[in-house]
Amino acid sequence: MTKNTFTLKSLKSKCLAGKLSVPADKSISIRALLISAICFGNTKVSNLLESEDVKNTLNCLKKLGVKILKKGNQFEIFGQGGFFEGSEKELFLGNSGTGLRLLIGLLSTRNINLNFTGDESLSSRPMMRIIEPLKKMNVLIKHNNGFLPIRIENNNDSSFPIKYSLQIGSAQVKSAILLASLSLSGTTIIKEKFPSRDHTEILLKYLGANIKKEKNIITLKSPNFLKPKDIFVPGDFSSAAFLIVAALITKESKVILQNVGLNFFRTGLLEVLKKMNAKIDIFNKKLINGELIGDIIVESSNLVSIDVNSNIAPRLIDEFPILFVAASFASGKSTFKGLEELKFKESDRLKTMAVALKGAGVQISLKEDSLEIIGNKIQQGGNYVITKSDHRIAMSMLTFGLAAEKSITIDDSSMIKTSFPKFKETMNSLNASIRNVSK
Ligand code: S3P
Repeated sequence: MTKNTFTLKSLKSKCLAGKLSVPADKSISIRALLISAICFGNTKVSNLLESEDVKNTLNCLKKLGVKILKKGNQFEIFGQGGFFEGSEKELFLGNSGTGLRLLIGLLSTRNINLNFTGDESLSSRPMMRIIEPLKKMNVLIKHNNGFLPIRIENNNDSSFPIKYSLQIGSAQVKSAILLASLSLSGTTIIKEKFPSRDHTEILLKYLGANIKKEKNIITLKSPNFLKPKDIFVPGDFSSAAFLIVAALITKESKVILQNVGLNFFRTGLLEVLKKMNAKIDIFNKKLINGELIGDIIVESSNLVSIDVNSNIAPRLIDEFPILFVAASFASGKSTFKGLEELKFKESDRLKTMAVALKGAGVQISLKEDSLEIIGNKIQQGGNYVITKSDHRIAMSMLTFGLAAEKSITIDDSSMIKTSFPKFKETMNSLNASIRNVSK
């Protein structure tokens, strides 16, 4: 089967300016749908991200008999308290690791037989990380050597909560365990070695779950009966990251981004960029359904190099590709450590970015799980980037092209719709130049 590809090209741009709201948060959108579905009653979610990954989760829930209606900018989810119909259905999660891993967790203790599939990229991503703890909970789960397809089976209420020490910084694994445990009897304890995004914990607490966190230990007492409450999904910091770096590396730019999610475990990039001399300010901070949000103002800056160590990695895990772009335009040698997890994303992001940046003339050297970039204000660009169907590689390299001497062309932009469907239009509304490539 031949795949439809949509190539795009980005050209040197300056004076990026404007004020806008970035698209809603993908992680929170997926959680809002999943957790609303098990509430007792109807939840109204405003500002849900309508991207491919979120739509895949939404369609799976509909297949399981959950009624979901869209009214204006609001989705109403008719929660069934954890009851799902449609045994033996196939649930297709497309490109979405979060949708897949969280949905498997949620459904694995609900006495139902289901099969899970995904696209080529998702089918090559490791699933043992969720299978192993779920098996410890006595979940009946079958898999293809740790990969998709995965099947869960009814075990007639014989799962139980566990005490689990999480060795990798993965919010998806943590969330899968928490969602699986909600309906069981007893106490779940998760110890995180590398604390990761806590959107699941925040939303569960907001909806009345008996969950608490002390230092790096999460305790969930079950069973939980979640009550619906309105949810507003903040703007996605991971999408804002491309606009932030675009404004930093292009000349005479000043951009304001409104209502961006500022969850501590998501905003490691802000700390790193500030140390790189970035002119970034945050204002209008407030809490909404337990999540911190605010406005970000960012201006063109003379960036300097940075050493990023592994402790902060889980707090900027999805922002590494765009951070490598920022480091390429910063003066001096930057080093990045603890990058192992990047190999297991929508593509092997370490290798894909190293090849793309090298092709653009950046002095970069890649070791096992670390990277070194010798930055320069002037970068050549001019290459054709193989994105490996990875949305964040596509958006990072298009952003690179806005500051490079010669344009950057990417092989395929179609996956951008998984997280930031209007990326090109949004960038161009700020005066950036991203164009379709005629074949
Ligand atoms: C996510 C967690 C992270 C992140 C992904 C979204 C989530 O993955 O990379 O884009 O919403 O829980 P891991 O849990 O695999 O690190």
